[in-house]
Amino acid sequence: MNLSKYLKVGIEAAENASDFIKTQNKEILSIDFKGISDLVTNADIKSEQIIIDKITKAFPSHRFLTEESGLISDNSDFCWVIDPIDGTTNFVHGYPFYSISISLFYEELPVLGIVKHISTDEIYYATKSNGAFCNNKKIFVSKINNLSKSLLATGFGYKHEEIWEKNMILHKKLTHLTQGVRRAGSAALDLCHVARGWLDGYWELDLNAWDIGAGIIIIQEAGGLATKVNGDEITLDDREILSSNGIIHTQIQKNLIN
Ligand code: IPD
Ligand code: CA
Ligand code: CA
Repeated sequence: MNLSKYLKVGIEAAENASDFIKTQNKEILSIDFKGISDLVTNADIKSEQIIIDKITKAFPSHRFLTEESGLISDNSDFCWVIDPIDGTTNFVHGYPFYSISISLFYEELPVLGIVKHISTDEIYYATKSNGAFCNNKKIFVSKINNLSKSLLATGFGYKHEEIWEKNMILHKKLTHLTQGVRRAGSAALDLCHVARGWLDGYWELDLNAWDIGAGIIIIQEAGGLATKVNGDEITLDDREILSSNGIIHTQIQKNLIN
């Protein structure tokens, strides 16, 4: 399948939304709450609208699954899965670790991913079987082969319930077994940092397709692995991810399961 026309429009949509987000700052934002610590701003809503408008204009029959609008249905096998700002809490505080994540799923699996790191102007992208790139330069996962030499990342959802408690314990366990476990607050960027070899692995147990759709294909195309914790393929409805350079995948997996 030739995905280049989708990539072109997706990158334009990400750049347009990024240009808009750069005009926003904490002084002018209006902030709402989806949960006690789950923030949403007018910039999230507007960014999403910019992306949807751009893509709909080019591909009017495609479906969408987005964080702020939910499922916009049609019969198409193509579904754009979008997080208009991944790392909203960081954005609101002016901590420069937030991004835009746009992915295209074909028959429930990701075939295209774009992640724009707004404050650094880095754009990561990949299409199936064509490699992964950051600002047009090919990227590859690391070659670390031992958990004890690895640097990992994880994340925590907004609901402070059973899975959150479990991940606190895993965070401690993996911190002890590795050179560190980071928690920076944008799943899409964490995944890109595995893809470019800065991190050797990343896992999270309570997230959504829009957080990880783009990162999955970017990691796969950079030579790594992105699966469910049990090793199965991730589809649209899944809520967890284990990603790595591939070499230490089972070493991380064993520690998450036991
Ligand atoms: C969140 C970020 C965070 C992850 C959370 C996500 P949001 O997305 O990706 O890193 O740990 O699970 O919900 O709410 O900032 O788009
Ligand atoms: Ca997100
Ligand atoms: Ca978001």
